[in-house]
Amino acid sequence: MQIEYRPEDFTAVDCDLLAYPVFEEEAGDFDSLGAVDRITRGAVRSALNSGEFKPELHRTCRIYKPAGLKARNLLLVGAGKKTQFEPARLREIAGVTVRAAKSSAAKALAFLCRGVPAAGLASRLATEGAFYAHYEADIYKTREKDRRDVEIFRIVLDGKKPAADIREGIRRGTIVGEATSFARTLANEPSNILTPTQFAQRAAQASAEAGVHTRIIERDEMETLGMHALLAVSRGSEEPPKLIILELGREQGKGGKRAPLHALVGKGVTFDSGGISLKPPDKMEEMKGDMAGGAAVLGAMVALARIGTDRPIIGLIPAVENLPSGKATKPGDVVKSYLGKTVEIINTDAEGRLILADALAYARTLGARHIVDIATLTGACTIALGRINAGMLGNDQKTMDRMRRNCTITGEGLWQLPMDDAYRKVIRSEIADIKNVGDRWAGAITAAKFLQEFVEATPWIHLDIAGVDLDTDGRPFACKGATGFGVRTLVQLLE
Ligand code: BES
Ligand code: MN
Ligand code: ZN
Repeated sequence: MQIEYRPEDFTAVDCDLLAYPVFEEEAGDFDSLGAVDRITRGAVRSALNSGEFKPELHRTCRIYKPAGLKARNLLLVGAGKKTQFEPARLREIAGVTVRAAKSSAAKALAFLCRGVPAAGLASRLATEGAFYAHYEADIYKTREKDRRDVEIFRIVLDGKKPAADIREGIRRGTIVGEATSFARTLANEPSNILTPTQFAQRAAQASAEAGVHTRIIERDEMETLGMHALLAVSRGSEEPPKLIILELGREQGKGGKRAPLHALVGKGVTFDSGGISLKPPDKMEEMKGDMAGGAAVLGAMVALARIGTDRPIIGLIPAVENLPSGKATKPGDVVKSYLGKTVEIINTDAEGRLILADALAYARTLGARHIVDIATLTGACTIALGRINAGMLGNDQKTMDRMRRNCTITGEGLWQLPMDDAYRKVIRSEIADIKNVGDRWAGAITAAKFLQEFVEATPWIHLDIAGVDLDTDGRPFACKGATGFGVRTLVQLLE
């Protein structure tokens, strides 16, 4: 798919399908619709008047061979209420347009950006949305593959706009769009393909292409370093664990070594069976995506490298497989973490926090001064927030406020959960420094309290994406499967 921009009026755009976003308020106010209704000789007005088209968010209506336009067909796309509009919606609407074009085999698509006045941001969001919708997850289908791809996605803007801003928006949108697709591909991969070893290989390859330095810590080195929390999770599997370290802007001398180091840490469990605390079979296949946090970190690092950031940033992805076997860690086992704190492992299915504990502490050894971790950590977070918002917890309120404000642009919902010290009580152990699960209440919070033990006073934010990493219902702007949640949030925060 080629993303294009040419300064031209939407009436003159030569394409198979021209998408025109319409706000709900415009249904009763045809003047604000402006030229499109006049030029099409009232076709838009009659679609609205007849009730055939309701401009609710994501709804569409096709007008065939409209008068007055060079475009073969016109697609009206619902943009929802103007009063509820936020930039992230433009991305979704662009995506809806691409899905509609695919379903009708339109090859050349044009999209009129409305609602976001800044041309750079508008073209960036439209580009991200186009890539997001273009993505398909059916890579293992050998037949019945429906390959009706949009070949040209042309961005159209009302009025005269600075071309340089638009080019930069498209560049930025392409980078983030591709990085998000990459993260989705990794999370969609079955665990027999994406083992920790394969994850490390793909990380190394993508990083080399983007100019990110990589280093893999192997099992022997983990033993030497004393990463026994991480190693405990991996024990039951034949697949060796990998701690993937990504470095950006450190040795290139950009920003200098004096700039504070940011660390992104992503859970990379390539399959989570629960271990000896085995999960029930229903939906267990979804646990191939238990490395979505790690995929988001890798995607974000690659995107940040390509955008060109001058901050020093490291990414850490502890990659393991959590399986039961004769060698597996058992409930009641005690291990010593990399930081030195001892952990009583009550439930081997609370494995994410164990691998993160060592990765977080190691990030600090590498000099991290600010840490964000992202993990499909608890079912409890999904119970609390559903599939709409990820849980956000931490000790760095200023950055959390900023991340929350960014949501209107990223379209990735974040909702903060409390971190009172009183929540820590339930993870006290009788025989070790801490145990890896609490009681049945506030599971997303007690998991975060566990992680906090390993970041101590370092400014840190934890994103629990267990409810939002996977889409099984189907959204009008994407195929089902991994969402790539976190790539945009992390890039927006750090760029
Ligand atoms: N990977 C799971 C969390 C998860 C569940 C993510 C469902 C996505 C969908 C995590 O490792 C886990 O098993 N958490 C346990 C923690 C419990 C044992 C304290 C959970 O949520 O049940
Ligand atoms: Mn688990
Ligand atoms: Zn897990």
